[in-house]
Amino acid sequence: MAAAPGTTSSATPTPGRSGKEPPVSSTPPSVVALSGNPRPRSRTLAVAEATARAVAERLGVTTPVTTLDLADFAGEILTPEHPSADAALTTLAQARIAVIATPVYKASYTGLLKAFLDLYPADGLLGVTAVPLVVSGSPAHALAGEVHLRPLLVELGAVVPARAFAVTEAQLADSGQAIDAWLARSAQALARAAGQEEGR
Ligand SMILES: Cc1cc2nc3c(=O)[nH]c(=O)nc-3n(C[C@H](O)[C@H](O)[C@H](O)COP(=O)(O)O)c2cc1C
Repeated sequence: MAAAPGTTSSATPTPGRSGKEPPVSSTPPSVVALSGNPRPRSRTLAVAEATARAVAERLGVTTPVTTLDLADFAGEILTPEHPSADAALTTLAQARIAVIATPVYKASYTGLLKAFLDLYPADGLLGVTAVPLVVSGSPAHALAGEVHLRPLLVELGAVVPARAFAVTEAQLADSGQAIDAWLARSAQALARAAGQEEGR
């Protein structure tokens, strides 16, 4: 099956809309990196993917990280029919661990991320171990991950066991260092929540 737009691995394009049971796939991806940046291939997406890969490696998850770039199908999210968004909703809901990233816009997550997550019914992310990740211009808005994104994910039923990961634009040049520092404090909580053994 061809990959849905914005997705690096295949997902069944079945609806995840209110009033319908979440679709079930026989081969769910284990770790997903999602960017809510309206700009495609953004630095936010890059740091989300790098974080997801680091988490997967640390937890010994060998399946490839699946990427969801909401910018690739932003135009359909507010329309009545949104098959690419539906496929992405399914992929995200079936993740064991999901890194959900957004640039900070107006001290919060982007409207694009909210519009996408609004497509879920209640508890649409039930049991997904989620990592809120925010990229901000100013360190003053680094708490947007804890203050705004975490409650949104919890409302959807996700488990958010570790601190939100906040990166400033100034840190993006060496995001590996920021990822290592965040992971050192977060890996154990993520492993316990996701039912994985820590690899090291
Ligand atoms: C519309 C808009 C609103 C923004 N609002 C904020 C803000 O309130 N606080 C902040 O720290 N950065 C703000 N920024 C800066 C972005 O957070 C920053 O440029 C972005 O995270 C960089 O990631 P990117 O390269 O993936 O786009 C804003 C940027 C835009 C375009």
